[in-house]
Amino acid sequence: MYENVILERKDRVAVLTVNRPDKLNALNLATRNDIVAALDELRADESIRCVIITGSGEKAFIAGADIAEFAGRTAHQQRATMQAMKVFTAMEEFPKPVIAAINGFCLGGGCELALACDIRLASSTARLGQPEINLAIIPGGGGTQRLTRLVGEGKSMELILTGRQVKADEALAIGLVNEVVDAGKLMDRAMELAASIAEKSPIALQAAKEAVKTAARTNLREGLDREIDLFALCFASEDKEEGVTAFLEKRKPEFKGR
Ligand code: COA
Repeated sequence: MYENVILERKDRVAVLTVNRPDKLNALNLATRNDIVAALDELRADESIRCVIITGSGEKAFIAGADIAEFAGRTAHQQRATMQAMKVFTAMEEFPKPVIAAINGFCLGGGCELALACDIRLASSTARLGQPEINLAIIPGGGGTQRLTRLVGEGKSMELILTGRQVKADEALAIGLVNEVVDAGKLMDRAMELAASIAEKSPIALQAAKEAVKTAARTNLREGLDREIDLFALCFASEDKEEGVTAFLEKRKPEFKGR
């Protein structure tokens, strides 16, 4: 269905694989459009509760924006293409949890896409970074903002000013990834994690995701107000009755997304 991504469904989990291995899965315009279209499809698919995004091949998650598309482009032209950069916002605003399974180079726009996901798992062979400075440009897919929020200004500044690649263990130490997994076991671990999330109520998952994301978008008072709204909204769901009743009856809940 898509030229540059492969979309697979396993029970309640979708796996979205960026598939340009010859170019280390670099994000050209067509690939960004495919990811956005696949997210649209998955948003509407009620059977899917959690999404994993990964890269095809052994070497890369995504090695960045497609640098070939930058050649000769003027400031005006680049500004005009920013609408096409909505893949990062589309990822962040996707209502279901997304896990980035980082299986190798995760650079530039690849790192920015991973930053827009909710949980990042890295293979022990992964390399992450924002090397745009080496091309005399800066991150333009949210890197200066999301990396800074995640790892703090000092570390973010260092990585963006030097363009240095960090290994998986360092990425874990600075909070850039949640977990490092032995190479070869990454997708099994990602599926295990996704399956454990997919068991939860999709209504509560969406509320939880929005509430946590609100923390970076607003001040504490407004964030706490939003949390209360979303918390109360969960009480309007059948899933909340099922969750509470199942606990009291000492059985496993069966959430229906209502
Ligand atoms: N855009 C376009 N093509 C890219 C790319 C990118 N971001 N990253 C890799 N490729 C292409 C290479 O041009 C090469 O294509 P070719 O075989 O047609 O020449 C192919 O992918 C394999 O990459 P190669 O550089 O040969 O692999 P390597 O193992 O020697 O190096 C990297 C791997 C990731 C270190 C190196 O490819 C690199 O630095 N990529 C750019 C990373 C970057 O700056 N990203 C941010 C962009 S804003």
